[in-house]
Amino acid sequence: MSSRLNLMAPEVRNNPYPFYAELRRNTPVCQVDPGGFWAISRYEDILGVLKNSKSFSSAALRPLFRPQWLNHNPVEDSLLVQDPPVHARLRNLIQRAFTPTSLNRLEPLLRKTSEQLVQDMMPRRSVDIVTDFSLPIPATAICTLLGLDISRRMQFKRWGDVLATASSLPPGDLAGHEEVRTTVRDMEAYLRGVIEQRRRDLSDDLISTLLQGRVDGEALTDEELMSFLFLLLPAGTETTAHLLSFSALLLAEQPELLEQLRAQPELIPSFVEEVLRFEPPTHGLFRMTIEEVEVGGVRLPANAMVLLLVGAGNRDEGIFQEAEQFMLGRTGPQGLALGYGIHYCIGAALARLETRVALEALLPRIRRIKRTSESVQWNASFLVRGPTTLPVELVPA
Ligand code: HEM
Repeated sequence: MSSRLNLMAPEVRNNPYPFYAELRRNTPVCQVDPGGFWAISRYEDILGVLKNSKSFSSAALRPLFRPQWLNHNPVEDSLLVQDPPVHARLRNLIQRAFTPTSLNRLEPLLRKTSEQLVQDMMPRRSVDIVTDFSLPIPATAICTLLGLDISRRMQFKRWGDVLATASSLPPGDLAGHEEVRTTVRDMEAYLRGVIEQRRRDLSDDLISTLLQGRVDGEALTDEELMSFLFLLLPAGTETTAHLLSFSALLLAEQPELLEQLRAQPELIPSFVEEVLRFEPPTHGLFRMTIEEVEVGGVRLPANAMVLLLVGAGNRDEGIFQEAEQFMLGRTGPQGLALGYGIHYCIGAALARLETRVALEALLPRIRRIKRTSESVQWNASFLVRGPTTLPVELVPA
């Protein structure tokens, strides 16, 4: 029997932090299950890997996105799975579409959407924060940013959920394989239609901006744009939804925090930062070693799959004072929830904006958030962590 930590064991999914603490203390670089990945749990070691794309490749991770039974998946060519210099070219072309101006334009709509969702929840009092609040907000934001049909926002979410299973389906799950293949085809056909329509009739959305962007005279090809959209639709939704759900969970567990934020809404941005550190939606990031390399005193072979345990690094007591405590107004080093270095999250400002605006809409209307179920149902991934449902009662102000 293996004595390795299994990150998918129910007790670890439920509360990984004591297990992470044990790893940091005793085996900060070691193999874990499933997969026998090399898990790295100390903050400085994780940072070292994220800074070193020469030895730790993202491009080598492509086969994860396209197992043998899947002949084509646009996301395998996206910037997330590129190394320099290809990554820099794509990132330069894409980043200029994420300007403060495009985000500022989004804010009134995000506020209206958040207020409407709160308005709909209040008469019911008993709600599921995940489906009634956390998911529709980022789904609306990403559709608006891209100029997609908002009424299809939950379908995009379902497409993203199916695609996310691609790397973990067992070889014999033929029905699962077919579902992924159909989803790739449907999503690609839909997005191709959108790209062609925008080529004929440019608008002021992100897809139009991306079509017009030039760096040194070069533009994104339609295939590159497609890969980016395949990355963006899921990347922009699930993580931000978890950030909102964790915010609600913390406010339910610590009613004094909720009172404090109601009295001083200007503290909401610093609350969001601490939620990102304390309960990061991203718990693990993959890299692959392209040569033999040492991390934290352990030599890793070439072609080793490395799992950076961001959720562990964010509670490293050597870096964060009273790391296991939620501390509003904490100063000091940034957490790793949004990554670091060349792949740093392109949607970081948007995720922060969505969460701030959503909380600004919710908090004036409620006095308490009460959990109506003791247990939390967690999603099934050790890379991203969040509740799939969160039943609560909203006590009106
Ligand atoms: C709380 C919400 C979010 C979290 C925790 C998060 C986390 C991350 C992390 C950790 C990375 C780095 C991945 C790596 O190094 O391998 C990343 C990259 C990325 N994120 Fe986010 N993200 C969030 C929201 C968003 C949103 C709202 C968008 C877009 C609208 C977005 C788009 C992207 C993209 C395109 C990349 C790839 C950047 C690159 O490879 O250069 N993310 N995100």
